[in-house]
Amino acid sequence: MLDSRWYEGREQALVKHTFLDAYMPAQIPKIVSWADTFCYVDLFAGPWQSQSGDYSDTSFGIALKRMSEAKAKQAELGRSVRMVAHLVEKNPKNHAELVEAVKRFPAVEVHCYQGMAEQHAAAIAAALPARAFRFVVIDPKGVPDIRKFQCLIAPQRTEVLLNFMFQFANRFAGSQDRMPTLEGWLGDLEGEAEWRAEFVDLRGAEREAAISERARQVLKRMGTYAFAPALTVDETEVDRTLYKLIYLTRHPAGIRVFRDAHRRALETQSAYRTAKKAEVRKNATGMDDLFAQVTAMEPGERSAKAIADGEAQARALLLERLGDNSAGLEWRALWPSVLDACVVTYGALGDIARELWSSGQVEIPAWQSKAVRRPKDEFHFKLPAAA
Ligand SMILES: C[S@@+](CC[C@H](N)C(=O)[O-])C[C@H]1O[C@@H](n2cnc3c(N)ncnc32)[C@H](O)[C@@H]1O
Repeated sequence: MLDSRWYEGREQALVKHTFLDAYMPAQIPKIVSWADTFCYVDLFAGPWQSQSGDYSDTSFGIALKRMSEAKAKQAELGRSVRMVAHLVEKNPKNHAELVEAVKRFPAVEVHCYQGMAEQHAAAIAAALPARAFRFVVIDPKGVPDIRKFQCLIAPQRTEVLLNFMFQFANRFAGSQDRMPTLEGWLGDLEGEAEWRAEFVDLRGAEREAAISERARQVLKRMGTYAFAPALTVDETEVDRTLYKLIYLTRHPAGIRVFRDAHRRALETQSAYRTAKKAEVRKNATGMDDLFAQVTAMEPGERSAKAIADGEAQARALLLERLGDNSAGLEWRALWPSVLDACVVTYGALGDIARELWSSGQVEIPAWQSKAVRRPKDEFHFKLPAAA
């Protein structure tokens, strides 16, 4: 359990770590049914501003703890799983601390590297066992050239979590400044003028959507990924995006785990931002806020809204997909594409499908009984014929 007191003044890290802490225990058991080795690669490992005293508030601390727990759980089930981690840190002092810190996790084979992630990436890629599952975390403070990590992004049996520094990209896209490490990969194969032109006339939410869509598409192509959903992490006291966590997977199972972890992270973000706003109001007026929300999440708060809007968009997209396919679609073809595009969990989308079915807005002949709570993969969905 992550303690929000460790994150005072760096609340965005709590969102990122809540995601990791939910993703790892959900994903590892799925992977070890077919891979005997789970590899965690953290290219910008830290430790960075850790407050917990035992590294429970760092990405590598969370990952190694969850890997140790999963290994013990699998051993109870009679399965032996090798847990391997490759961690890179540029700063010599941080690196020395990292080397000491990882001794707390003897169940994991840990390799620490001092220096630039860009220089170590190829050697790490070569060291990973071919049949292992790899989870690669790229969490820089700035904007490295992501193409330097293609050797780790492209292989099969890989999932990636990238911290895309949206604020840098947004500032750069609207100025004449050069940022070669960013324009190199975000520009992809086009000339500079062509791809920047895409953003010039856009403002606010439209521009944010266009920049993040480009980042998602370029990253997908780096490893022929099927899905690249993004989690928006906001500044604490201002309604403004700080960065996007972009996740790459080739499998519907991965996107399902992502959206569950995403939802947990958004709830965490919404709760601390609601509390922070109440505190700011209290400090400004010198009084306790009589109108403070009694619930932890204020419905109008951006992350709470992202959850509500995501479900509304998912409902609309599901109907749109069926409208575009007059012969209908199976659930297994519908849900992954909706989860890729919208902030919605598999469970919530199943509830939406159930509501559409029970109100007659969608025909699902195989869904015979209300006792079946959620659609099955083979259920065929179709819009009713127009009267
Ligand atoms: C944002 S912090 C990482 C935080 C960590 N992932 C976490 O969530 O706990 C970035 C770290 O990367 C290190 N760093 C910066 N540039 C680097 C590079 N090119 N290669 C490796 N590490 C780098 C910094 O010293 C810092 O410790």
